[in-house]
Amino acid sequence: MGGTRYARWVAAGLLLGAGACYGIYRLTRGQRRGDRGHRLRPTRSAEDLTNCSCDDVLNAEQLQKLLYLLQSAEDPIIIEKALVTVGNSAAFSVNQVIIRELGGIPIVGSKINHPNLSIKEKALNALNNLSVNVENQVKIKVYINQVSEDVFSDPLNSPVQMAGLRLLTNMTVTNDHQHMLNNYITDLFHVLLIGNGSTKVQVLKLLVNLSENPAMTEQLLSAQVDPSFLSLCDGHVAKEILLRVLTLFQNINNCLKAKKNRLALQSKFPEGSLFFLLYGEECAQKMEALVYHQDDEVKEKVTIIPKS
Ligand SMILES: *[C@@H]1O[C@H](CO)[C@@H](O)[C@H](O)[C@H]1NC(C)=O
Ligand SMILES: *[C@@H]1O[C@H](CO)[C@@H](O)[C@H](O)[C@H]1NC(C)=O
Ligand SMILES: *[C@@H]1O[C@H](CO)[C@@H](O)[C@H](O)[C@H]1NC(C)=O
Ligand SMILES: *[C@@H]1O[C@H](CO)[C@@H](O)[C@H](O)[C@H]1NC(C)=O
Ligand SMILES: *[C@@H]1O[C@H](CO)[C@@H](O)[C@H](O)[C@H]1NC(C)=O
Ligand SMILES: *[C@@H]1O[C@H](CO)[C@@H](O)[C@H](O)[C@H]1NC(C)=O
Repeated sequence: MGGTRYARWVAAGLLLGAGACYGIYRLTRGQRRGDRGHRLRPTRSAEDLTNCSCDDVLNAEQLQKLLYLLQSAEDPIIIEKALVTVGNSAAFSVNQVIIRELGGIPIVGSKINHPNLSIKEKALNALNNLSVNVENQVKIKVYINQVSEDVFSDPLNSPVQMAGLRLLTNMTVTNDHQHMLNNYITDLFHVLLIGNGSTKVQVLKLLVNLSENPAMTEQLLSAQVDPSFLSLCDGHVAKEILLRVLTLFQNINNCLKAKKNRLALQSKFPEGSLFFLLYGEECAQKMEALVYHQDDEVKEKVTIIPKS
């Protein structure tokens, strides 16, 4: 019996209720796997497993069943429920390992191409929870290019765009995979400028992570950034945005100071790049004004950048 048939049976089980589902499950499972001694005896129905309000830790057998359901289902409602359940299970570190060992990451990853944006979003959320584990990140990194491309074509400020940005952010909490974003930094600054407050904060979290890594400094400073970027340093800008912009400046400036010769580097940066915004006159003026900001945290973060 093929995966699609099986999914249809499970779907039927969902409609018929837990008891019927259990029966169908045993029947199909027995045919498929019984000869290999893998007959599973689930203690819960697929309905329970995809019930995201159930907060018990699923065991390996249940996770395997869930992944199989996810792989074979065609009904978007079932796919979505299964993704949410995988995502919730992946909040537990033991499950992050089990899901990887069961080959679950490519199964979840294949859903980030789903035409249904709601399903795509749930797949990104599930990958995000799975990404908390460093070994999982090694498997998830193959999706970084796809996720980056998509983030710039997704509807602005949409849940799916936020989910993509969150995943990219959590894939950059260590320095290991940050270089994979090299080609997307200009686009990230663009989304930073056009996005609403929530999007701005999320993009800034990502950029701040990159800015702590000296290996990323030149890429950041080379990015083409619209001069309106500096309006994010105006005194009235929301603190959660302003503080992150100042942290970004501070990190980049510290990394650059650590490099031998800033002036020698200067010739490397193209016109219109972040470098010239950051070390330009207008930025210096904004920083001087922020020294008088009413908020102490903001004042402390202000970097008086030496003129170049
Ligand atoms: C989901 O799980 C909760 C708690 O385990 C239960 O009360 C509820 O009836 C379940 N919902 C469905 C649709 O199975
Ligand atoms: C996407 O899938 C959900 C079910 O998970 C469904 O409610 C929604 O209508 C689908 N959207 C489209 C555009 O097909
Ligand atoms: C992911 O994990 C968090 C807790 O770390 C949890 O609140 C959330 O519901 C989980 N699920 C998804 C799909 O993100
Ligand atoms: C993403 O990373 C942040 C910061 O490290 C962390 O607090 C959060 O729990 C992570 N989110 C998920 C869904 O893992
Ligand atoms: C940004 O836009 C999204 C989608 O329209 C919305 O849900 C969110 O609340 C907005 N955030 C802010 C801070 O306006
Ligand atoms: C990335 O940012 C998160 C908080 O958003 C922080 O916990 C983490 O240490 C940062 N990682 C790096 C490499 O900067």
